[in-house]
Amino acid sequence: MKKLVIAIDGPAGAGKSTVAQIVARKMGYVYIDTGAMYRAVTWLALRQNLTVKDAAAVGDLAAGAVIELTYAAGKLVVLVNGEDVTGPIRTPEVTGLVAEISQILPVREAMLVLQRNMAAKGGVVMDGRDIASRVLPNADVKVFLTASIEERARRRWKELLDKGYTVDLEELKREIADRDRKDYEREYAPLIQTEDAVLVDTTAMSIEAAVDEILKICEEKS
Ligand code: C5P
Repeated sequence: MKKLVIAIDGPAGAGKSTVAQIVARKMGYVYIDTGAMYRAVTWLALRQNLTVKDAAAVGDLAAGAVIELTYAAGKLVVLVNGEDVTGPIRTPEVTGLVAEISQILPVREAMLVLQRNMAAKGGVVMDGRDIASRVLPNADVKVFLTASIEERARRRWKELLDKGYTVDLEELKREIADRDRKDYEREYAPLIQTEDAVLVDTTAMSIEAAVDEILKICEEKS
């Protein structure tokens, strides 16, 4: 059977990574979390006290970084220059800066090369913001996964609560809206629903239903 290339784009908190991971597992494909790659670069930049103002230096950092997405006991492990950054790339500091670091063109160019190489053999589910529009424009399946901002904020709030953090829902909503705005409005490779992408709105949909819908689209294409 043909090994498909599946692109899933959408805003923060729409459930992309959860859905993409299940789809990949069910199809025996590799899951590539491109957000984790931008987070890894942001983590490196923060460690060197670089900000978005040091665009050239951050670009060099991204171009020289060895980013590996591996799995241990079924869980994604992110390595940057050999260091395990799986936890550190999810801190509020990284989350607060990642959308700005992702606007730097040399950073995007470095990630583009890595991501295309990772998908070259097919049999991949890649999620992000610019996968269908830029990284893999010839993908066999393109999905735009979204949900209302209220629902996305509520999910993040619950996720954090389950991890023992108390956060203000309204504050979370503001942070997500701010990241959405930066991702949608940036100059290079903004978040966009391409014309050939299928819209999957998960506001009132379970993870299982979203997965089933994507698997159905894949079946039609294989
Ligand atoms: O997917 P996640 O929310 O972890 O992504 C973090 C950030 O990385 C996004 O808000 C966006 O700024 C950036 N990103 C991107 N292009 C991608 C994936 C993520 O610019 N393909």
